Formats: sequence, C-alpha cells, structure tokens
Amino acid sequence: MLKFAPSILTADLARLKDQIEEAEAAGVDWIHLDVMDGVFVPNLTFGPLLVEAVRRVTSLPLDVHLMIVQPERYLEDFARAGADVITVHFEATPHAHRAVQKVKELGKKAGLAINPATPLEAFEPLLPELDLALLMSVNPGFGGQRYIPTSTGRLRRLKEMRDRLNPSCLIEVDGGVNRDTVAEVYRAGADVAVAGSALFNGRPVADNLKELKEVLYA
Ligand code: DX5
Ligand code: ZN
Repeated sequence: MLKFAPSILTADLARLKDQIEEAEAAGVDWIHLDVMDGVFVPNLTFGPLLVEAVRRVTSLPLDVHLMIVQPERYLEDFARAGADVITVHFEATPHAHRAVQKVKELGKKAGLAINPATPLEAFEPLLPELDLALLMSVNPGFGGQRYIPTSTGRLRRLKEMRDRLNPSCLIEVDGGVNRDTVAEVYRAGADVAVAGSALFNGRPVADNLKELKEVLYA
C-alpha cells in the first residue's frame, strides 16, 4: 500500500489544526512539512516553531523536508520540535553524510533528498544509512507544479538501487502527485507519496484521498 504524506504547504494555514485533524480522520499516513529558507529555494515558509505546533495537534509521524542551506545548523531544533523523519537535501550541504549521521544520533529517522537535475548516483554512498530516500519530481519551492515525466524512470532505478543496497529504506516521491500520476509513481516503486495540492485544495481531504486510492487500487 502506498503511504500518503499530505504537505501542509497548500493547506489553509489559518485553519491548520482543522486541516490536520481532517487529514488524520481521512486516513493519511504522515504529515509532510516543507521548510524553505529563501536561499536553497526561492520561497520562504516556516521553521521549528510551526513543527512544534503541529506536533501538539497530531500523533501522526511528522515528515520534515528541509529545503535550507547547511541543514546541520538546525537539526537539533527540528528534532526537539517533534519531527519523526528529518530529510536534508544532497545539494544543500557539502557534508550530507555528517548531517544524516547527526539526525540518527538525535534518534530520528534520516532522509536524503535530491533535486530533478541531480544524478541518481548521489544516493548510492549514503543509501545503506538512510531510512528514507526522497526523489523530487518537481523543482522544490512551490506546491501545485507539474510532475516532471523523467522522474518515473528515476524512481525505477532508485528502487533497484534501494533493493540492492538497503531494502528497509523507504522511497518517497515529492511534487506533482495527483490523480494522473499517482498510479505511475506507485508502480515505479514509491513507498510514500507526498501530495500537496491533490489533498489540500479546498475540497474535503477525505474525498481527495478516496479518489487517489480509487485510481491506485481500482
Ligand atoms: C515542493 C515541496 C512539495 C510540495 C508538494 O517544494 O517539497 O512537498 O509542496 O506539492 P504538490 O503536491 O502540490 O506538488
Ligand atoms: Zn516536500
């Protein structure tokens, strides 16, 4: 079964508690939190303070996606805020290995993310240490972008690499997952799908999730 991690980036933030409770009641698996610093990506969102607030309103695993330069500076803060999975970008630090080790030392699940232009081989040295490999299927920065079609082939190759090097590592796909693409990413090997605009879009989350699952398991 594909796990769903709705991104609060496209939620109604003035009603964040309601939106999270609605997603939880609908049966989502994780909550995905997109942290952006305006440097690594051309957008700004939020930091540990909001993660901590979300922690207080749900018991679902919090999947924190750090799109910030030198993420090692803030790992302790996000761990303390209640993150369960902390994902750093390969492109955001010269020391991705050190950052991943640090997340594990903090007792959290460690993820590594790569952008659409980054060769898949970037995962290889770290894969045996990872709990999560996050493949970006849009350029990070904004919700509601179109899925980049070459991501499907990359997902297939990532699955082969994962099966060979660390079968317990989960593969997560992030960006443009919706009714048209969800079956394709699942078949290609994704274990977890982030979905922003496909789940938080003003319509009931339960209806949106049901539609995605209908496409998947019809
Ligand atoms: C993009 C973020 C994604 C994004 C997903 O930078 O990492 O998590 O919010 O949104 P959708 O599903 O709308 O592409
Ligand atoms: Zn994300």
